[in-house]
Amino acid sequence: MLACTPMNFKSCQSSLLQWYHANRRELPWRANRDPYCIWISETMLQQTTTTAVIPYFERFLSRFPNLKTLAEAPLASVLEAWAGLGYYSRARNLHKAAQALNSAQKFPQSHVQLLEYPGFGPYTARAVASLAFGESVGVVDGNVIRVLSRVEGQDWEWWLSRTRPILQARADAWVSGVPSQDMNQALMELGRTICTPKSPSCLLCPIRTACVSYEQDKVIARPRKKPRPERQLWLWQPQLTIRDGKILLRKNSTVPFLRNQWLLPGPARQVTKKPKDFHYRHSITHHDIFVTVGQPVRKVQSDDQWIPLAEIRRHIPTSLVQKALAHVGYADALERL
Ligand code: ADE
Repeated sequence: MLACTPMNFKSCQSSLLQWYHANRRELPWRANRDPYCIWISETMLQQTTTTAVIPYFERFLSRFPNLKTLAEAPLASVLEAWAGLGYYSRARNLHKAAQALNSAQKFPQSHVQLLEYPGFGPYTARAVASLAFGESVGVVDGNVIRVLSRVEGQDWEWWLSRTRPILQARADAWVSGVPSQDMNQALMELGRTICTPKSPSCLLCPIRTACVSYEQDKVIARPRKKPRPERQLWLWQPQLTIRDGKILLRKNSTVPFLRNQWLLPGPARQVTKKPKDFHYRHSITHHDIFVTVGQPVRKVQSDDQWIPLAEIRRHIPTSLVQKALAHVGYADALERL
């Protein structure tokens, strides 16, 4: 077989589907096509690997077995069940969407309807519509982008918003005429297990003979690398102010990392050279932050918040702050929370 030309596209699709049916992993969210389970799992899978998600998914489902229990749960317990997965806005949106979905007559079945709910972006809406309801829409995630740019021999600038419609159209083409829930998962699974970023196992690939990049010996060069913003070095002096088991937090409106999140107050400035002395270093996206834990705040501002230490993880899950607490000897206390 040669490249996936329109003439042999069908046989490409069926080779991939056959491979998927023979190799698909039994994952807890694949046990049925319950939209609630699929939605939770797909939201979690955007955070981390499949293996890491399994215990979180199982714990979450035993705590909130259905839409109603999630909708009626206090937000704090949802955030707690999410703790460790990162990106807490996803958990907040999950909770908000559960309340809206729970008051709907039935679970919306199309991606267009799902896009109306908090936290349902183009990926999640299509994943749920396809995996739970069989809507013929392709999903575009990192794995799919890699597989398609390799098989189709494309050097897409996939990170640009103007490329999105092209990627979406290709993903839609792959699911057309076949069960979309299987094809979407087959593409993602191929990307996760065989068509991996650095050392793909091309000899095991069910669509190798149709892969343009394999033919051109360009598999590793695709997809193109997103240009990285230059790294920035920052000095930050968080002020740890603890009284009666409570810690002082301030909404970050000045520092470019963790913007609008509750952080420890304290000055930060950008520098051009790595400092000689610092307590610890922490990286967030393209920011390298060199931290020196400072003295407590003298003047509390009116919109500062005192948060019980026991709730700190819920308010500032970032390890940037947890490391500051560890530095002044609160690590043991946090471990016990
Ligand atoms: N990655 C995210 N969702 C997935 C799924 N349903 N199957 C395989 N890989 C995935």
